[in-house]
Amino acid sequence: MVDHLLGIQGLSKSDLYRYLDTAHSFVEVSERDIKKVPTLRGKTIVNVFFEPSTRTLSSFDIAGKRLSADTINVSIGASSVKKGETLIDTVRTLESMNPDVIVMRHSESGAPHFAAKHLARTSVVNAGDGAHEHPTQALLDLLTLKQYFATKKRGIEGLKIGFVGDVRHSRVARSSVWAHLTLGNEVRLIGPKTLVPEDFARGAFGTDTIKVYSDLAEGLKDLDVVVSLRMQLERQEEHFVPNLDEYSKEYCISERILARQAPGCVVLHPGPMNRGTEISGEVADGPRSLIRNQVTNGVAVRMAVLYLLARTVGAPEEVSHG
Ligand code: CP
Repeated sequence: MVDHLLGIQGLSKSDLYRYLDTAHSFVEVSERDIKKVPTLRGKTIVNVFFEPSTRTLSSFDIAGKRLSADTINVSIGASSVKKGETLIDTVRTLESMNPDVIVMRHSESGAPHFAAKHLARTSVVNAGDGAHEHPTQALLDLLTLKQYFATKKRGIEGLKIGFVGDVRHSRVARSSVWAHLTLGNEVRLIGPKTLVPEDFARGAFGTDTIKVYSDLAEGLKDLDVVVSLRMQLERQEEHFVPNLDEYSKEYCISERILARQAPGCVVLHPGPMNRGTEISGEVADGPRSLIRNQVTNGVAVRMAVLYLLARTVGAPEEVSHG
């Protein structure tokens, strides 16, 4: 039976901790002088991204290489997709070369699930599908919070976390909200009513426990974690805000409002950031920002995901990464 990582929805708490504990064991590999372990030697990882990416693509590539797997990145612009090849023919063609894992990003929600259904021997990892899910981003955000709150002698349960901005189109928010609901955390969604409709939480997550705020200050009150989201203009077919200047006046996260409403909070942003639109440069580069840690942890989390899907031997603790 071939395993996949298609989303966070449906994962149990122990599944989440299994990914986090495995990622934790890989953090140290990236801090070595020689950043390479033989764990996936002889395995092949294909990264096929139908949408642009800086962080996710490069970190999957680095993660595979640090595990000694052979990795290739299929450039869609230079592929036969441009000649009209369908998604299913593209992934079946790639599977014919016997890769162990296909990592896929696609603008259509459900594309990696569709691919997984049609592949017999290859694991599929969802690297972001439309506005649906971005599971490895949620895991790297959790790892970042786990590391930070460990320094405060806290875990990642019992937190108050708020997602600010374009929640409606955010696959990052969807995956992360599923994770925080599973951990039993208090989740708030904050943004204009067009981007965070009153009934959004019930429709998307089937729960009334998520609080929705259109007033930024009110929503931020006493949060432990603020997740700033990019305005996903590429997924907006209509105008959801009058213009970005007006939006930023009401929803840009500044140090001033954080100091007043949530003085102890830390800030995450999945990137790419639009400084001055959803987050001020002062916050992005300031002491509460964990944004660079998120990027660093992206490699360890993707090493863990590739390892758990492509390994042929033993549990993490039984495998020497040396
Ligand atoms: N967070 C994220 O998915 O970034 P990229 O689009 O650069 O991969």
